[in-house]
Amino acid sequence: MTPLDIDLDEAVAIAQKAARRAGAIQAERLHTNFKVERKGEIDLVTEVDLACEEAIINVIREAYPAHIVLAEEKGRQGDGASPFLWVIDPLDGTTNYSHGFPFYCASVALSHGGDVLVSAVYDPTRDEMFHAVRGGGAFLNGVRISVSGIGDMISALLATGFPYSIKTTARNNLKEFAVFAMRSQAVRRPGAAALDLCYVACGRLDGFWEFHLKPWDTAGGALIVMEAGGKVTQSDGSALDLYKPDIVASNGLLHEAMLETIRSA
Ligand code: IPD
Ligand code: CA
Ligand code: CA
Repeated sequence: MTPLDIDLDEAVAIAQKAARRAGAIQAERLHTNFKVERKGEIDLVTEVDLACEEAIINVIREAYPAHIVLAEEKGRQGDGASPFLWVIDPLDGTTNYSHGFPFYCASVALSHGGDVLVSAVYDPTRDEMFHAVRGGGAFLNGVRISVSGIGDMISALLATGFPYSIKTTARNNLKEFAVFAMRSQAVRRPGAAALDLCYVACGRLDGFWEFHLKPWDTAGGALIVMEAGGKVTQSDGSALDLYKPDIVASNGLLHEAMLETIRSA
């Protein structure tokens, strides 16, 4: 037990169990005739998002009935006084999923006072389970991972994403995208922020930034990057706050150059 009175190894096993359940649903229902609704002009939610969310919450509720849950589709649930909050993206990469573009995942994180304690991000397409325990390292399918050693932007492979409000928000990331594209080796827009962060953690990407994310997009992946030796901050360089929308994650070596690029855009 930790001073927090929770066994983090047990908690991360529950996070992985829940994320794997959701991934199994995603795999099973891919290319089936699932119902798709629009939350906005380009913001989708499918029956699969909802089924994954229910499956994840059931696993958590069974293990930790008193804990609070913050899930993308159904919001905050549980009215007890527990300081433990599970932050869940049942299907990150819904647009990709609904087109059959194979880059999506489920993300499950347990937080306490704004700090993420454990997390699991599962990619069913590649059967890749990323997980981390605060202070205990980051892993891909049980093998320890670490960020890349690339220190110059022109050698860096970066990723980003654009908000559903791209047409209406001032900070739609198009200017920053252009500057990063000129300064780096290449920029990708994979379409699942949680997995983008995990790719930074295991060195497939050297950095990632985005400006309009929600806690469920970032909670799981941010811990995995930090535990893999990377750096995660707000885009002004201040300490990460999961409830603020912007994020910059890197291997650490590129962090200052990424922040400077954002400032200059
Ligand atoms: C989205 C994805 C995407 C990012 C968006 C997110 P969703 O999450 O992570 O990559 O660019 O900002 O909202 O809606 O697929 O869970
Ligand atoms: Ca998401
Ligand atoms: Ca989602």
